[in-house]
Amino acid sequence: MIDQFGREINYARISVTDRCNLRCRYCMPECGVKKISHAEILSLEEILRVAEIFARLGIKKIRLTGGEPLLRKNLPSLVRKLKNLPDIEQVTLTTNGVLLKTFARELISAGLDGVNLSLDTLNAKIFSDLTRRNFFAQVLDGLKILLAEKSLDIKINCVPLRGVNDGEILKLAALAKNNTVKVRCIELMPIGCAWESGLKGIPTAEIFSTLENNFGELVPIDKKNSLQGPAQYFRPKNFVGQIGFIDALEHKFCGSCNRIRLTAEGFLKTCLSFDTGLDVKKFLRSGDKELFEKIRETIYHKPKEHFFDGTTKFQMYQIGG
Ligand code: GTP
Ligand code: 5AD
Ligand code: SF4
Repeated sequence: MIDQFGREINYARISVTDRCNLRCRYCMPECGVKKISHAEILSLEEILRVAEIFARLGIKKIRLTGGEPLLRKNLPSLVRKLKNLPDIEQVTLTTNGVLLKTFARELISAGLDGVNLSLDTLNAKIFSDLTRRNFFAQVLDGLKILLAEKSLDIKINCVPLRGVNDGEILKLAALAKNNTVKVRCIELMPIGCAWESGLKGIPTAEIFSTLENNFGELVPIDKKNSLQGPAQYFRPKNFVGQIGFIDALEHKFCGSCNRIRLTAEGFLKTCLSFDTGLDVKKFLRSGDKELFEKIRETIYHKPKEHFFDGTTKFQMYQIGG
């Protein structure tokens, strides 16, 4: 559907849990999240019901996020059902990879189209310092499975942090040399823990020139279709994969924003940085017609642009990025 600013909204990010098996310093507090009861999070049936309404409103792509989405029971079955919804063209997943080895096969046979793997380093020590957990070996297993899997669209997400993983960016980018993956550098966004952590991101321009100095000119690649996210992609001449940048602070891409978000507790969030939206859970007992109309009206009023001033009450692990 088209919102009040004329943007086509065709992409929903659905967080299936706010729990996570890692504690990344820019995302989760050490103590994790306050446990919420099962009754407070949407059931898979409820998620499916909302997704069906999204599809009727013009959503064509669904990305499942968390917390860590693979902690949610029966996720492959949700993928299969979402893929079977009329008009849903793509179902993708953003994961930290710890449980990929366990679930990759089932997810692929359920029809998953792509995986975005959060991976800030290829060094076990930096990994455990940054994520406060020792699951590097499991994540590496997950990465290997993805690199060998030709049927999936694979992206690797790295948040460059000054004095933390500066030295890792070239190594991560080099994964795109011989693999058809997209390695993306994401500018640290000052939300929740990141706001309080004291961590400093590295400006995209600085990373860009480091990469060009090492790999040669980064040739820009045009966006393929309207379902693509905010990343801008480039290819060094002798790379089969691509390098992408998501720099929400330096370049606002809100004018072409195509997305909405649903939190695990059932809040429809229409912009990453504002708390405006709809408590969908409250309306789940309403008939389909009323629920459809409420969701339509909320999407229509999606804010014009993001503004990170530290006031959003949501943490990144609740929004799912
Ligand atoms: P695809 O294009 O579908 O691969 O999605 P994506 O890159 O948006 O997904 P992913 O879950 O990998 O998110 C990567 C980063 O982009 C995360 O840090 C998100 O918070 C950020 N991001 C995604 N959408 C938006 C957005 O609308 N605004 C801003 N500021 N950041 C976003
Ligand atoms: N700024 C930028 N990216 C973040 N992510 C989590 N927190 C932040 C933040 N404060 C990223 C994760 C993951 C994606 C969903 O969001 O690294 O790849
Ligand atoms: Fe978990 Fe992802 Fe947050 Fe890290 S960034 S704590 S993996 S939700």
